[in-house]
Amino acid sequence: MNVAFKRLSAADLNFNPARLQLERLVAFAREHWGIEGEFTPLEGERDQNHRVAAADGRSYVLKVSASGESEGAVDFQVAALRHLERQAPDLPAPRVVASQAGRDVEWIAAADGTRHMLRLLSWIPGVPVSQGRPPGVATLRNVAAFQARLACGLRGLFHAHARHFVAWDIQRALILDPGIQAWVAEDAKSLLAEFNQRVSRDVLPRLPGLRAQVVHGDGHADNLLRAGPDSDEIVGAIDFGDMVHAPLVQDLAVTLASFARHGTMSLDNAVAQVEAWNSVLPLGDDELEVLHDLTLLRLATALCLYDVRIHATEKPAAWLAEERPDIVRALTKFLALDRDEVHERYRAACGRVGRWPQAIDIASLRERRGRALGPSYRLFYERPVHLVRGEGTWLYDAEGRRYLDCYNNVASVGHCHPHVVAALSRQAATLNTHTRYLHDNVVRYAERLTATMPADLRVCYFVCTGTEANDLAIRIARVVTGQEGVIVSDDSYHGNSNVVGAASTCMYPKAEQPGWLATVPPPNGFRGEYRYGTPDLGLKYAAHIDTAIARLDERKQGAAAWLCDVIFDSNGTILPPGGYLEYTARAIRAAGGLFIADEVQSGFYRTGDEMWGFRYADVVPDIVTLGKPIGDGHPIGAVVTTPAIAAKFAEKFSYFNTFGGNPVSAAVGMAVLDVLEREGIQQNVIAAGKVLEAGLGQLAARYPLVADVRGKGLFWGLEIVRDRESRAPAVADADRIMNLLREDGFLLGRTGAFDNVIKIRPPLVFTPENARMLLDGLDRALGRV
Ligand SMILES: Cc1ncc(COP(=O)(O)O)c(C=O)c1O
Repeated sequence: MNVAFKRLSAADLNFNPARLQLERLVAFAREHWGIEGEFTPLEGERDQNHRVAAADGRSYVLKVSASGESEGAVDFQVAALRHLERQAPDLPAPRVVASQAGRDVEWIAAADGTRHMLRLLSWIPGVPVSQGRPPGVATLRNVAAFQARLACGLRGLFHAHARHFVAWDIQRALILDPGIQAWVAEDAKSLLAEFNQRVSRDVLPRLPGLRAQVVHGDGHADNLLRAGPDSDEIVGAIDFGDMVHAPLVQDLAVTLASFARHGTMSLDNAVAQVEAWNSVLPLGDDELEVLHDLTLLRLATALCLYDVRIHATEKPAAWLAEERPDIVRALTKFLALDRDEVHERYRAACGRVGRWPQAIDIASLRERRGRALGPSYRLFYERPVHLVRGEGTWLYDAEGRRYLDCYNNVASVGHCHPHVVAALSRQAATLNTHTRYLHDNVVRYAERLTATMPADLRVCYFVCTGTEANDLAIRIARVVTGQEGVIVSDDSYHGNSNVVGAASTCMYPKAEQPGWLATVPPPNGFRGEYRYGTPDLGLKYAAHIDTAIARLDERKQGAAAWLCDVIFDSNGTILPPGGYLEYTARAIRAAGGLFIADEVQSGFYRTGDEMWGFRYADVVPDIVTLGKPIGDGHPIGAVVTTPAIAAKFAEKFSYFNTFGGNPVSAAVGMAVLDVLEREGIQQNVIAAGKVLEAGLGQLAARYPLVADVRGKGLFWGLEIVRDRESRAPAVADADRIMNLLREDGFLLGRTGAFDNVIKIRPPLVFTPENARMLLDGLDRALGRV
C-alpha cells in the first residue's frame, strides 16, 4: 500500500484518545498544578479534554494526549502558544500554564499502563462561530482579519516538528495519492478529474517558491470564537493541532474553504475575507495567483479525506456522511467560477489595479538620485532593483516582484522581524536620549552582549557603524600601547572614516598607503603564495605579520594593532587556516600591540558553529568590533574590550557618542539577541549551511567556471575563473551570473580583490529550503554563462 496512505491510516484515522478516570485527573491536576474545581468533559478528536472551572473563578482546559501521541507534536503546540504569548500578547489565544514543577507538559500513566502527556491551557471565553447566528459578512471579515493577525503572531517561529505530516496540509496534495484515490467515491472523482491535473501541473510547482512560515492551518468555524451567539466580534482561536510550516497564503485558503462550506458562502464573501486579511497582512502577487486554486485544493482535500474515513474506517462517525453534501456543493460552486474573474477580484480587493499598479519611473528616480546624492554612490545590477518592502528572507520591489535575499547580512534575523520592530517602536514611543543619563537598556544590553564573549571581554563602547567601531578600536589601541602602526590585510575593508578608510586597503592604490600602515597577504589557499595542501598553510601566511611589524619598526611607528576581519570578506571570503589567528595574535602582542578582531562580517552566528569568528581559534582578542548584523538593520556598532584596556584608555580620554548606545538602539540590540536565543537561528544557519555546502560543491564539480567554493554556515564565496589552470579571474562572467540571478529573483553580490567571487551571505533566517531554491537558481544561471 502507498506510503502516504499508510501514514494517514496509522496517524490520522485511528485516534486512540485517552480514557482516564475523572478522579485520577482531578487528583493529578491538584498535585501538579495546584488547581481544584469543577471538571466538565469536552469534545476532542485526539485528546481527552476537560474544562476546569477553578475555585478562584478562572477556567482552564486540561488536555490529555492520546497514547503514542508524538512528543514533538505536543512540544510544537506548546512552543507556538508560548511564541504567541511573547510575540502577540494582545492576540487572544490559549496560554500554556506551567505545572508547579515549572513544566509545560506532565506525564500520567493510565491504569492499562499507557503513558499520556497532560497540558493545562487557559480557557478562552467565547462561542464557536459555528454556533449561534449563521456568520454574515461582518463576521467573515473579522474571521479573516483574525487569522491574519494569528499568522503575524506565528511569524518567526521555528520548530523541528513544523514540517510534520498533517493529512489536511494542502501542500501535501494527498488527493493525488493513488492510495487515497482508491477510497474516493465516483462522484468526487469525476468532479475533480480536471482540477487534479491542474493541481499537479500549475499549482504544486509554485508552492515551494512562496513565502512560508508556521501557520495555524485550521481557521474553521469550530475553532474561532465569537463574543456571543449573535456577535460579529472574534475573541479567540483554539485548536493548534493542524499547525504546519506552509506557504503563508495556505492559511487564508483554508479559511476561505472552511467558510465556503457554509451555505451562505459566495464569491462576494470570499472577496471580503481576502480584503480583510490583506488589510492586516498584505498579500503578494504570487500569493494572490494561487489563492483560488489552493482554496479549491483544500475543499477537494476535505472531500477526499471524508471519503477515506467513510469507506476505510470500521465505524465512521455519522457527521461525516451528514456534512459531505455541503462540501460537494461548495466545491461544485467554486469550481464553476471563472478563475480569471476570481483572480481579478481578489487582486482588486488588495488594491491592485491592472497588472502593474504603480509603474514607478525607474529612469527618473535614478536621474534624481544622481543629482541629489552625487556621483559617488553606486547601485547594484545592470537593472537596479527598486525595493519597497522586506520580510524575513524576502524583498519586494515596487512592482510587487519578490526576490530571495541571499546577500544582506545586516537584516540578520530577517527583514522587519516583528519582535525587533516592536521593540524599536515601543522604545521610540517611550524615550530616546543618550548615554549621559542613566538608563537600564544600555547597561543590560552591554551585559548581555559581553556575556556572549570569553571571560575578560566585559566592557562595551557603543557606536553607530562598523567604521566608528574600528576607528575607536584603533584609537584605543594607540592610546593604550603608545604606538601608532596598524597592520591589516591587503585588499581589506574596515570602513570609511579618515583613519579606517586608510586601513581599508581595497579602496585605494597601494602607493598611497600612509606610513603608519603595513599589510599582510590574506591567507588565500586558492590563489595566494601558498596553496591548499601546503603543510602548515596557516603558519606560513601568519609569519608575514613578522615582516609587517619589522616594517613599522623601521618607520619608527611601532605596531599598535593587528586589525583582522576574521572571515576576510573583502578578500573573497577566507576562513583563517589552522594556527593563523593564534600566531598573529601572539606576534602582535609580543611587539607591544593589540589584536583587534573585526567581527562586523563574521559575528552573530554567521558561520553557524560559533557566535564569533575568532572562537574557531584558540585566541581571545584584546578588542572585538561589531556592526552590521547587530541591529537587524538599525545602525548599531560596538567595541568590546577588557576592563584593563578600558581603564588605561580612560586615563587619557572620556568617551561620548550622541547616538551610540541610546535607549532605542539598545532595545533593538536586545531584541536581536532575544531572537537569536529563542528562535533556533544557530540551528537554522547550520542546517542551511550544510545544504549550501553540499550543493555548491556539486555545482563546482559540474561547472569548471566555479573553481573554488569557500565558506561555512551562511557565508560563502564562489571563485569564478576563466580556466582552472591559470586561475584567471572571470570578472565579466561573475558579473553576468549575478545579473542573471537578479533577473531570476535572487539577490547576491560580488567580492574579492578582482571582484570575481560571488558572495552568498543572506539573513540568518535563510532556511534549508531557501538554500535549495538558490542552488537551483545558481544552476540555471551557470548553465547560461
Ligand atoms: C569587515 C568590515 N568591517 C567594518 C565595516 C564597516 O562597517 P560600516 O559600513 O557599518 O561602517 C565593514 C563594512 O562593510 C566590513 O565589512
